Amino acid sequence: MSVDKLQEGLQTRRFGKTVLFSSSVPSTNDWAKKLAAMGAAEGTVAVAETQTAGRGRLEREWISPKGGLYFSIIVRPEFDATEATKLVFVAGLAVADALREEYCLKIETKWPNDVLVNGRKICGILAEMNTTNQKVNYAVIGVGINANFDIRRVFPPSLKPVTTSIENEVGSRIKLDNLFRAVMSKLEKAYSLFEQQGFAPILAEWKKGAAFLGQEVEVTDQREEIVGLALDVDEEGALILRLENGKTRRVCVGDVSLRIS
Ligand code: BTN
Repeated sequence: MSVDKLQEGLQTRRFGKTVLFSSSVPSTNDWAKKLAAMGAAEGTVAVAETQTAGRGRLEREWISPKGGLYFSIIVRPEFDATEATKLVFVAGLAVADALREEYCLKIETKWPNDVLVNGRKICGILAEMNTTNQKVNYAVIGVGINANFDIRRVFPPSLKPVTTSIENEVGSRIKLDNLFRAVMSKLEKAYSLFEQQGFAPILAEWKKGAAFLGQEVEVTDQREEIVGLALDVDEEGALILRLENGKTRRVCVGDVSLRIS
């Protein structure tokens, strides 16, 4: 990977016009936040070949061996902080579309920010923002895609049943620069739609791939575990569950797993 390779033939207007590349950083999200704080323009992307302290949601580690695609893009949205929390859906939709189109994978989206193939996670998204009161100064959308490695060889045993990679699904290695450009194009398209028409069309498209809807799920956050039927994701991005006692519950933070009974 190199900046020239990543940008070769890139057809976006705003996203990826400035790319910074490093062979190894602690976290591209931390790098992009520093760049944004120094005034980097919207669409600037920080890409790394590996991360030594890649971060996931809920304080988890994001294992980032060579062969994956790890990048963070800076956006400077006009909308407020509540709207900006929906950026994970924008990015999830974009990655899902890119992976479907480029590699014909049967992709699913899972609330709130996962992209799966056959129930196994292939991509994670971490959006972070800097705000003053409710105004967003900048947001950073970090994307990690398991691409050119065999997860059976590089991930710990506990993650093997729940993760996959493009190499594991396609049976061969792909060109990371192609993947980068495909995701940039879809991301710019989805982000522009979000800016112009709001969350509704993003959510509608995202839900088309949301295989967990209509299923019995377990939702865990760091404090509790909730079991219920996944009914919907509402216009604020919250998950609506029907609990076993028949009541409806709205969940804003957590992780979903399908319930095996
Ligand atoms: C998750 O699924 O919990 C989110 C994972 C997000 C990982 C990406 S990799 C690029 C960027 N840099 C990070 O440290 N995290 C995100």
